[in-house]
Amino acid sequence: MSQPPKLLNDDGTASMATMLLMAHHAFRRDIARFIRAIEEIKAGDSSRTDALREEWEKSCRQALHGHHTIEDTSIFPDLRSKHPELATALDKLTEQHHQIDPLLEKGDEAFADLAHPEKAEAVLNELKTLLDEHLTFEEAEITPSLREAKEFPVPADEKMATMYADGFSWSMQGIAPEVLAEVKKLLPEILLAKLPAAEEAFEERSKRVWGTYTLGRATTSVPEGY
Ligand SMILES: [Fe+2]
Ligand SMILES: [Fe+2]
Repeated sequence: MSQPPKLLNDDGTASMATMLLMAHHAFRRDIARFIRAIEEIKAGDSSRTDALREEWEKSCRQALHGHHTIEDTSIFPDLRSKHPELATALDKLTEQHHQIDPLLEKGDEAFADLAHPEKAEAVLNELKTLLDEHLTFEEAEITPSLREAKEFPVPADEKMATMYADGFSWSMQGIAPEVLAEVKKLLPEILLAKLPAAEEAFEERSKRVWGTYTLGRATTSVPEGY
């Protein structure tokens, strides 16, 4: 892989590019964790299969589908109007989303049947291949145009703030503290107030699903050792 993009802008500040790249880091982090977890099941450790199945639903299924939906309905149309030269790349990215989505359904079937872990293994390997290609292309094509954007939308109400805080607790895990400090400068107070509890809950959830794990201190969209 060529050099992955840095999470922070060249001037050391965060931007909407940072937010998108942190989500990409989380997808790569989680797909690697899922692949390792399936290897453990194949080796005979089935102690965490229920937690894994639930995590598939929350992490890969909902987070990835939600991420694609936000891109297709909000980020891409906005970029398309401001940067007409990106039209071909945006078309290709949307097409890639449509290739990835059916795999998520195949994943549901595979994770419902972890007595045959090779099914989940096959889906995860296919997903990793498609995602690696998609994320790398997306980062190269659209991240530069998001570096100037620094206005994070203020959540309309408490419920939405909680939803955003949950999302950030997921995307911030394993990111270097100096990056997180810059990201927090862009986040509205209503969201920041909910972040510590959301992060604590996510750490608990992670321990339940992955057992012990080491946290990275990533400064790019690719986890260390990926
Ligand atoms: Fe995408
Ligand atoms: Fe993306």
